[in-house]
Amino acid sequence: MRVSAAEVSISCGDRGQSYAFIPPQVSAAAVTIAELFRAHVLQWAFPSFTSTLLSHLVDIRDLNFGYNERPILAGLTMQFERGKVIAVMGGSGSGKTTVLRLIGGQITAQSGSVTVDGQDVAALDQPSLYRLRRRMGMLFQHGALFTDLSVFDNVAFPLREHTALPASMIHDLVLMKLHAVGLSNAASLKPSEISGGMARRVALARAIALDPQLIMYDEPFAGLDPISMGVTANLIRKLNDALGSTSIVVSHDVHESFLIADYVYFLSQGCIVAHGTPQEMRASSDPYVKQFVNAQADGPVPFHYPGRPIDQLLGMGGES
Ligand SMILES: Nc1ncnc2c1ncn2[C@@H]1O[C@H](COP(=O)(O)OP(=O)(O)OP(=O)(O)O)[C@@H](O)[C@H]1O
Ligand SMILES: [Mg+2]
Repeated sequence: MRVSAAEVSISCGDRGQSYAFIPPQVSAAAVTIAELFRAHVLQWAFPSFTSTLLSHLVDIRDLNFGYNERPILAGLTMQFERGKVIAVMGGSGSGKTTVLRLIGGQITAQSGSVTVDGQDVAALDQPSLYRLRRRMGMLFQHGALFTDLSVFDNVAFPLREHTALPASMIHDLVLMKLHAVGLSNAASLKPSEISGGMARRVALARAIALDPQLIMYDEPFAGLDPISMGVTANLIRKLNDALGSTSIVVSHDVHESFLIADYVYFLSQGCIVAHGTPQEMRASSDPYVKQFVNAQADGPVPFHYPGRPIDQLLGMGGES
């Protein structure tokens, strides 16, 4: 049975407040990378790209979404301002990856809208959706490098797939992307020959291969040691500023996310429970935010996946 908008029945109060963004700090290193990219030809390769004057690159309005009969997101309204790094945080199963899939048009909401650069994603025909996706970079939750391809070929993949650029130009672009993540000398290695932290940086280089206007990172810090985490976080911020992109960082990691984000949304059970600058979130008295920021086991976040109580599942009483 498909769920209808009316049946999506998670209820959320309007608990969060909206705040102004802080301007990002653009570092000297970021400027250097920016010059590197500007000097090259991707602008020439994608002349059709024209940014609108809308201040929000991604705009999600009153969105309700459920997988079959199970409601996942309810009454979601989120805005992702151009040029910013926005963190989407929340516990496991709260719906973070689902939000990214809705933005990428892999799934469609039962009601509400997702617009990217002024285009209603759900209303696009396939060619238009593919065109829009070319302007999005995605770092998948589990890295997802092609194990049989070298580091070079992994990063070259989207360029070969989506452009008709000559091999010599792809070669230079791939090396520039790898240089931006500090791995130009690892181009010939296979994913099995590099560390987890390096693999994440290769995935990052692949995500930015097409100079995306929007970069979505799904758990970019998961499984990394503290140094690699810091390196990855810095790269996300610098690449965003150098490319003039907008970045959405889905993460559980409060420290790294707060370090680089201009703005933070907290999701819990498919609802936005709080949003604001990292500073405001640290000072928040919201019990969910406090539980999350202070990594407390006890609080409003439920431990159990929702459903029937254990005594019912064991056939020991209650309704069947
Ligand atoms: N393809 C699917 N079919 C049915 N249910 C799904 C599907 N994908 C995700 N879900 C459910 O939707 C809910 C939200 O999933 P989602 O992957 O968005 O969570 P998440 O916040 O990204 O979690 P995590 O932090 O563990 O990655 C979960 O309860 C999950 O079981
Ligand atoms: Mg996820």
